[in-house]
Amino acid sequence: MLVASSQPQLRQQINAWKRAGETIAFVPTMGNLHSGHLSLVTEAKKHASKVVVSIFVNPMQFTNPDDLTNYPRTLEQDSEQLIANGVDMLFTPTPDIMYPKGLDAQTFVEVPGISDVFCGASRPGHFRGVATIVNKLFNLVTPDVACFGTKDYQQLQVIKLMVEDLSLDIKIIGVETVRTPEGLAKSSRNGYLTPQELDLAPLFYKVMQQIAQDIQSGIAIETAITTAQIALDKTLFTTDYFHVQRADNLANPSDEHTDLVILAAAQLGAARLIDNLVFSR
Ligand code: PAJ
Repeated sequence: MLVASSQPQLRQQINAWKRAGETIAFVPTMGNLHSGHLSLVTEAKKHASKVVVSIFVNPMQFTNPDDLTNYPRTLEQDSEQLIANGVDMLFTPTPDIMYPKGLDAQTFVEVPGISDVFCGASRPGHFRGVATIVNKLFNLVTPDVACFGTKDYQQLQVIKLMVEDLSLDIKIIGVETVRTPEGLAKSSRNGYLTPQELDLAPLFYKVMQQIAQDIQSGIAIETAITTAQIALDKTLFTTDYFHVQRADNLANPSDEHTDLVILAAAQLGAARLIDNLVFSR
């Protein structure tokens, strides 16, 4: 696996590949890789002859300085996993390389509307940071396709809208969430959970499944959400939000909309868990 940490190094290799007629699939990450990230690599391989992965803990998308400082950085183990999974190139820039003028002087990309609701309302500026770094990485890697997890459902919508609005010629592929056998979505932040919290954590997805079942059986959305929230908050969870939205554009659903998504965020100990469930009624 080739490793680049500077922009010229990366561009040189990408240009050589393009001249040789290779196609490129890209998987951006913040590292501390788990089987969810690796499923994106597996998907990426199906779509291009070369796979590029980036690992960059992007300061622009963190709204809490402690979260940024404490974010797990495990480059050595990550590299080993990427080699074992046949990745062709790893890009590992530093904040100085990506933001040489500092964050405040950096041009940014903002996808309006969708960036301010749900996770964007809880973490103002988060999706600006995500859209900006993903756009910069897209400009450097110039991929044909890029893979993102549906685990971060709102993030995926933000990226798709950015690609559409800025006329980027990149196919965005959404990859299904990888879960533990108990149903907990794999996440780098699960490492913050104590053993007791880890036992409890699958309840988050269970209550979402219950919301979907309730709505399918005709219970009003608000009632289903309140019941779930009460069940969760009786335990060590503190609910941030549950929303049931249209699956296609995250707008508020009317009675005629049948394809829905439950978006949820909750605090459990030191970890903020987010998850979603797409269903039809
Ligand atoms: P990170 O949290 O490292 O996630 C990188 C990619 O892995 C994202 O597309 C995310 O949706 C996907 N992913 C995470 N957990 C997953 C799981 N359990 N199953 C399937 N896919 C999963 O998301 C980011 O980094 C950043 O915001 C980034 C896009 C890299 C921009 O900085």
